[in-house]
Amino acid sequence: MKFFIDTANLAQIKEAQDLGVLDGVTTNPSLMAKEGISGQANVIEHYKTICEIVDGDVSAEVIATDFEGMVKEGEALAALHPQIVVKIPMIKDGIKAIKYFSDKGIKTNCTLIFSSGQALLAAKAGATYVSPFIGRLDDISTDGLRLIEDIRLIFDNYTYDTQILAASVRHTMHLLQCAEIGADVMTGPLSVILGLLKHPLTDSGLAQFLADHAKSNA
Ligand code: G3P
Repeated sequence: MKFFIDTANLAQIKEAQDLGVLDGVTTNPSLMAKEGISGQANVIEHYKTICEIVDGDVSAEVIATDFEGMVKEGEALAALHPQIVVKIPMIKDGIKAIKYFSDKGIKTNCTLIFSSGQALLAAKAGATYVSPFIGRLDDISTDGLRLIEDIRLIFDNYTYDTQILAASVRHTMHLLQCAEIGADVMTGPLSVILGLLKHPLTDSGLAQFLADHAKSNA
């Protein structure tokens, strides 16, 4: 399973990269705004900086919602760095744009996926990744993990190369459940990855080992 971090915060991206388990980064306009990054030139510089920090794919979202606009923006984003993946919303022109980029060998991430039908359509258009937002479905009393299961089943019935990128992952159990289902990638905050470290028996066991070592070496 690939681990992506869902943030535009450089310190968190560096921390995840230093841990040695980071496979990529996803961003969106809200995450950029949260870091106070505004203006096209600053946004572009920020993407370049992120690409310099991480080794894997970096999703950069288009703002345009029409085909021509998405193509223009996406081509400019893709030209920034080989690691850039053009992130495109699940709308009609978005599907056309995904097909356009797929034909040109440019990687895409279809975002704002909330149904298996949307995922199937994006896969048929040649998306590299589909991003089902599981936390936002849970927020409205709908089972986000069930969506991951449904998409996994559909993709496994055929030969789509499209990867399931579980997004809007909110906690460590989401990550583990996505791993059990077989999501190819998960993206979430750093805390979701760090949560995997935690177990009280590890802490107490280590404290005991160190205490015993100190006693026998006193
Ligand atoms: O990757 C999608 C993500 O940024 C949305 O997460 O927590 O705002 O639903 P959230």
